[in-house]
Amino acid sequence: MSPINLRSLQALKSQQQKFAVLTAYDATFAQLAADAGIESLLVGDSLGMVLQGQQSTLPVTLEEMVYHTACVARGNQRAQRPAFIMTDLPFMSYGTLEQGIASARAVMQAGAHMVKIEGDEWLAPLITSLAQQGVPVCAHLGLTPQAVNKLGGYRVQGREQQAADALVNAAMELADAGADMILLECVPSSLARRVTDAVAIPVIGIGAGNATDAQVLVMHDMLGLNSQHVPKFVKNFMTDGRTVQQAFKAYADEVKAGTFPSAEHEFA
Ligand code: KIV
Repeated sequence: MSPINLRSLQALKSQQQKFAVLTAYDATFAQLAADAGIESLLVGDSLGMVLQGQQSTLPVTLEEMVYHTACVARGNQRAQRPAFIMTDLPFMSYGTLEQGIASARAVMQAGAHMVKIEGDEWLAPLITSLAQQGVPVCAHLGLTPQAVNKLGGYRVQGREQQAADALVNAAMELADAGADMILLECVPSSLARRVTDAVAIPVIGIGAGNATDAQVLVMHDMLGLNSQHVPKFVKNFMTDGRTVQQAFKAYADEVKAGTFPSAEHEFA
């Protein structure tokens, strides 16, 4: 079967079919996830926390993102239907156009199909430049973990009317600038619905309710391996004696059916 690509994912949005995204950091889990029907693998800088034991994503380097992207790309290649790989550009690796372009080149050459960057309107020039050079971009809005120190913690964003309106405007501006996807983290479900309706590109949610076009979870969280604080939006799929692959498939199936996330996982 032909690999999943940006066009396949855009077509799913047009057909109002949901798709599943899961973080992956190595070859084995990448292949398992793709073979379980997960359409997109996110090489997230969450690897700083779940693999490296850091307190935040800030210490993660570009070299580490390149290394893990290459691992994921090799495993994904062995899947029956390879998934679409997106990779986070890490903290402070895209502050200027030149830096952003060089960082994007590094992860794309390692095997990513898209880069993900955190921020709002200030990202527009970089997104346009990358789009002109053939690099798909996902803009991460809402709770942006690289800005945890500025945000004062991992808190739900966009609760006030003004902040919600600003987020909708930012999403529309970034889509106009050439972004191919939006990722919304920890925002009220009603706001996620507004963004999803406002842009023609796919919107992925995490802690954003089930109105978005797709969902993403951190793999360790959905396998129940997170022994510390488990966020409200996480569901453990590694239950009922399932294997890892069955847990991945259960997650993909529930996302596609629209049954995950349910009300207990969302912010009203
Ligand atoms: O780094 C990551 O895994 C992410 C998800 C939390 C969306 O950005």
